[in-house]
Amino acid sequence: MTAAIVGIGAALPERTVPNSHFDRIGSSDEWIVKRTGIRERRFLAEDGHLADLAVAAAGSAIESSGHRADDIRHVVVATTTPDRVTPGLAVEVAARLGLAHAAAFDLHAACAGFVYALDHGGALIESGRAGAVLVCGAEALTRITDREDRSTAVLLGDGAGAVLLADVPDAPAPYFHLGSDGRQIPLLYADRHDRKLRMDGPEIFVHAVEKMSDAARRVLDRQELTCDDIDLFVAHQANARIVRAVGKELGLPPERLFLNVDRVANTSSASIPIALSHALREGRMGRTGLLAVAAFGAGITWGAGVLGWRLAGR
Ligand code: ACO
Repeated sequence: MTAAIVGIGAALPERTVPNSHFDRIGSSDEWIVKRTGIRERRFLAEDGHLADLAVAAAGSAIESSGHRADDIRHVVVATTTPDRVTPGLAVEVAARLGLAHAAAFDLHAACAGFVYALDHGGALIESGRAGAVLVCGAEALTRITDREDRSTAVLLGDGAGAVLLADVPDAPAPYFHLGSDGRQIPLLYADRHDRKLRMDGPEIFVHAVEKMSDAARRVLDRQELTCDDIDLFVAHQANARIVRAVGKELGLPPERLFLNVDRVANTSSASIPIALSHALREGRMGRTGLLAVAAFGAGITWGAGVLGWRLAGR
């Protein structure tokens, strides 16, 4: 059994927030664009439901795949900002998509959550325990943003993305390398009383480039691949400078690197599947190809992986 991406979808909140929104807290469009590449982001309404975005993203991933919903026996939603304390988002996503009695759970690995979830979903398929697995990333980071703190508020956005993984016998073998270092918790966290993200930006920047580059290199080496074999590289969209630095470390041709942080900012575990959906819409993904992904987040956690895509009707 070989897992590959067979469907992709995303959903963003309606409200677009330009950089000028942060002028009042001492920031500027010029600073944000220069230091991060971000131009705008989407905010979920205060009373909005993240599950609505996750259902829309997951529904379009399934629909675009042409797979039958009743083939899907597992639903994993990577999130740190679910609508309820319990239950998580995944059970609601499964129920609202008619995936009756599918196994469904949320996975929390901060911004690396989607890469962790992809590895897990792929392993279920490779072991023969699942024919198809729905993997979603959904975040409403505005729920844990200190709106008065210019060093974090300008970076974050809301949204959801999803992929459907299925067994594609002639797809390239997936491989992932994941890691964590809980000694670095003070660099990026939201504690349970304050409930707002606190971050040492410059330190996180250094770790992000180092960990994503190292994990991606390990994956490529293990699979005896070079950058020339990769059709598209999608890293966690935290900051355009971080993503470009990783591409440079790996020696990746710039045209294989995908960036959409300018439009959506950092959407944590939703960032990679939202980027995939934008890449697809912009004609950056043909019917088949080899994808490399990399992410890092609070914990710190990180991971990278390669897997194929095979998209119906393209
Ligand atoms: N607008 C204007 N000035 C600002 C802003 C802002 N939004 N934020 C910080 N500054 C100021 C600082 O106060 C500092 O001023 P000083 O020199 O007078 O002290 C100056 O800009 C430089 O600040 P640095 O923090 O050194 O700027 P840097 O170039 O490192 O960029 C940034 C900051 C964008 C945060 C960068 O460090 C970064 O991207 N780090 C990684 C962030 C990240 O990926 N976080 C993880 C994701 S969050 C999550 O998990 C959901």
